[in-house]
Amino acid sequence: MTEILETEMEERAPAKVEEFAEMYTWHEGMEWNPVERVILERRSVRKYKDKQVPEALVRRILEAGRFAPSAGNSQPWKFVVVRDRDMIDSMQKYVQLRCKAFKFFLNWQKSPLGKIAWFYFQMTARLLPNLMHPIPFGAITVIADGKLKLFHDAPTVILILMDRRGAAKPPIDVGIAGQNMILAAHSLGLGTCWVGFVEVFKFGTKWNKKLGVAWPYKLVEGIALGYPVGNPDGMIERELQEVDWWEGGQKRTVY
Ligand SMILES: Cc1cc2nc3c(=O)[nH]c(=O)nc-3n(C[C@H](O)[C@H](O)[C@H](O)COP(=O)(O)O)c2cc1C
Repeated sequence: MTEILETEMEERAPAKVEEFAEMYTWHEGMEWNPVERVILERRSVRKYKDKQVPEALVRRILEAGRFAPSAGNSQPWKFVVVRDRDMIDSMQKYVQLRCKAFKFFLNWQKSPLGKIAWFYFQMTARLLPNLMHPIPFGAITVIADGKLKLFHDAPTVILILMDRRGAAKPPIDVGIAGQNMILAAHSLGLGTCWVGFVEVFKFGTKWNKKLGVAWPYKLVEGIALGYPVGNPDGMIERELQEVDWWEGGQKRTVY
């Protein structure tokens, strides 16, 4: 078995291994294998063609999600596919209306309930620093003003529900399943965008009921899926962060 694996690894190894000697460093003209290319080239797509994705491709994408690793192989997820234009529009509208209400309360200097809202905001920002981060808060105004739609008008949406009974860290497991689907979609020539804003469905019962989100499931993320308009590649740069590298009893820093 080990021999077979070693042979397989050799066969799969890139032709010019020496190019990979310097890790964590991208060089102009460097060769990447197809999996690396998909990882490096994928970008979030926020403009989709008005053309539905064939069901067969969506099923392949779901399969990539199903095959994701999970702690204890507990597979704590459920996927919900929505391909109904009216339903997607209705979900988008619902979130826009909720964002309008949030915007009103957040506009604490003008709103009559401003002081109470501001106090509540200060408290929750301390208790929920990730959720109340300035970035999602900035997006509330953009969605409220209709400049950004929840699913960017994508023709297909995959919702990721997390089974709270999963072993160890189910949020990590569902994140991996989601990223598997996103990368598979990109490899099939499709565009995707993670949609954390499905969080807003919590502020009401309508969509949780309709989508069957009930114990033990929790709606955690959405994925907008469709054929991209234009080419969003290279939209956002990445920081080059230090990596501490321990070897031979010594630590060095790698970039
Ligand atoms: C968990 C998660 C939630 C996200 N939620 C949203 C969202 O609600 N709306 C949106 O337009 N983009 C969303 N994004 C996309 C990020 O803004 C995007 O991945 C980031 O800016 C990096 O850009 P890139 O995906 O093009 O590389 C989300 C991404 C992740 C990983």
